[in-house]
Amino acid sequence: MPHTLVKLTRSLAGAALALTLGAAPALAGDEALVQRGKDVYTAQKCQMCHLIAGKGNKMNPLDGVGTKLSAADTKAWIVTPAEMTATAKSTKKPPMPAKYDKLPAADIDALVAYLQSLKK
Ligand code: HEC
Repeated sequence: MPHTLVKLTRSLAGAALALTLGAAPALAGDEALVQRGKDVYTAQKCQMCHLIAGKGNKMNPLDGVGTKLSAADTKAWIVTPAEMTATAKSTKKPPMPAKYDKLPAADIDALVAYLQSLKK
């Protein structure tokens, strides 16, 4: 049935094209995620307590946090800050608030991507 074969060939070609197109913008996708994380950081006013690139509160600099913390620990600071404050024996006041776990998962992922991009 040559007609089916033609269809199959077409859909395979389509899939290959989609893969090729998908591969290149993967990096651009990361950049978009980092940019979104930056926007969430500003919108959530993390800078009230944190310093990045000279902007914000000098008490808690986050420059280089992408080198210091794993993505998992960065996320843990955002969603379970009380536990992380205890584990890190942090005595800084006010402590990291426990409210960001209510953020949409995509915003949390974007925040983590942004913070992980802050390498020293
Ligand atoms: C009310 C103040 C406050 C706000 C607002 C705040 N944090 Fe924090 N955060 C802290 C304190 C205090 C620590 C503990 C720092 C320490 O002891 O070195 C901390 C720790 C962290 C850490 C771990 C830093 C490290 O060097 O180990 C990350 C990551 C972090 N915060 C991200 C965020 C993000 C993202 C936001 C916004 C969504 C935010 N924080 C909002 C106070 C705050």
